[in-house]
Amino acid sequence: MSLPKVELHLHLEGAAPPRFIRDLAAKKKIDISGIFDERGGYSYRDFRDFLRVYEAATEPLKTPEDYHRLTLAVLEESAASGVIYSETFLSPDFCGGRDVGAWREYSQAIREAADLAEKRDGIVLRGIVTPIRHFGPEKAREVARCAAETAGDWIVGFGLAGDEKIGKPKDFAWAFDAAREAGLRLTCHAGEWGGPESVRDAIRDLGVERIGHGVRAIEDLALVDEIAETGIVLELCPGSNVALGLYPSFRAHPIHRLRERGVKVTVSTDDPPFFHTTMAREYRMLAEAFDWDEGVFDEIAKTSAKAAFCDEGTRDKILKRLEKADA
Ligand code: ADE
Ligand code: ZN
Repeated sequence: MSLPKVELHLHLEGAAPPRFIRDLAAKKKIDISGIFDERGGYSYRDFRDFLRVYEAATEPLKTPEDYHRLTLAVLEESAASGVIYSETFLSPDFCGGRDVGAWREYSQAIREAADLAEKRDGIVLRGIVTPIRHFGPEKAREVARCAAETAGDWIVGFGLAGDEKIGKPKDFAWAFDAAREAGLRLTCHAGEWGGPESVRDAIRDLGVERIGHGVRAIEDLALVDEIAETGIVLELCPGSNVALGLYPSFRAHPIHRLRERGVKVTVSTDDPPFFHTTMAREYRMLAEAFDWDEGVFDEIAKTSAKAAFCDEGTRDKILKRLEKADA
């Protein structure tokens, strides 16, 4: 709980506490009762269904003010788990429908909430603008335009989430090129529901320096070695993979083998309430599964800080806080 943590892979809407979404829906008289189980948590059957429920849960989030409140709630949870830096996926698809003017207002509201949370809890947020793969390459281009308009010291990256089984990375090359030209750093979900070839495609066709998940690279050791040699960083989310049925347990998760083979691994939660997890729980489960001590987690936090897409001044501050915790 108290170890300082650096999280690189968190979806803002996916981190929404179910109670927050339920209360907002009730206030706005939107009926999304079908997405909750009897204990009030999110309910879904499998990955496709998870994506459906995820999208339904965004329905009551209609205004920049809603996103302001959501951001405060999410960062409070992260900070309680010891997170000091959070790189968060933000989606103009849900924030104003990819209209640049609306996106500016939403991102400004999120940023103002993040500034408040930083003052309140000492947690730092930076944004990765992220189109949704199954919405298609055309919409991703519009999202890239939104990203380019707001690129800077706070919107620092561009990614791609959604259904990996739909389309190919190269369909999104235009969007990624536009984001790169705007100075954004690049990551892409791959090797979660697609195999090693999906990771290869994302690296080759999009030029990403990080991969979201990437766990299924383990099925091709030549690819694992290439990832290790080129220093591509994996944003691993073990609790997410276990909850969605990719692996039966933490012990069966490839994070340990990837690390042993020299890959730069980081640990994140993805969509914590959906997977009944937190950063503190991820650490605890990994410690139990692999007998990892504080030294391993310290190394992972530093790897994460070095792989963060923020400016060097922010990175130095994060690294100093990690070093202070060592002492
Ligand atoms: N969006 C939110 N969580 C995701 C995941 N685990 N994979 C793909 N897209 C997502
Ligand atoms: Zn994700």
